[in-house]
Amino acid sequence: MMLGACVDPTDSALGAASQLTHVLQTLEMMIADGVTDEDLLLVAIVHDIGKVLLLTDEDPANVVCMNRFISGEPGAGLEQATTQWNHDEFGYSRLVDVLPRELALLVRYHSVMPHDLEPYLAPSDRAFAERYHRPFFRYDQGSKSAARRPRVRLEDFRSLVGRRLPSRLEI
Ligand SMILES: [Fe+2]
Ligand SMILES: [Fe+2]
Repeated sequence: MMLGACVDPTDSALGAASQLTHVLQTLEMMIADGVTDEDLLLVAIVHDIGKVLLLTDEDPANVVCMNRFISGEPGAGLEQATTQWNHDEFGYSRLVDVLPRELALLVRYHSVMPHDLEPYLAPSDRAFAERYHRPFFRYDQGSKSAARRPRVRLEDFRSLVGRRLPSRLEI
C-alpha cells in the first residue's frame, strides 16, 4: 500500500502513475497471459518494495532506473558480481530471508536487462534466468501505462501473500 504514495520521477512510461498502479498493471498483464505460477505472481507484488525509499530523504539517483553490473567476471555467476545499489538491492535485503532463493534473486536483479545479465550467468544460473528473470522482465517493463487503470485489486492477492509471506515484514 505504501507504493501507492510512490511515483518514480524517471519513469516516463508510467508518468504520474504510482508504483502500486505499476504492480497491479504487471499482475493484470500476467493474468491476461494465463500465468498461474504463484512464484511469479508473488514476486510481482513485492518486486518494487524497495521503491518505498522514494518516501524518504534518499537521493532518487540511488533508488530508480535500470541497473547494471559494476564488477564481476563473465560466466562466474550472479552472486560473484556486484550491481549499483538501488531499489532492487534494498528490496532484496528485506526479502532474502522470507522468499525462496530464486525469487529473492529475481527481486535483486529485476532492473538488469536480460542482455546485461547474460554475460555474468554461471551455468547454474541459467535455469533461473530462463524460468524467472526473462519472463518477469517482460511483464515488469511491458505492462507499463500512464493511462490504463488496472482492474485487478491488491485485495485479490491477499490470500497468496498471507500464505507465502510472514504476517509482519520490517521495511
Ligand atoms: Fe523495479
Ligand atoms: Fe517494476
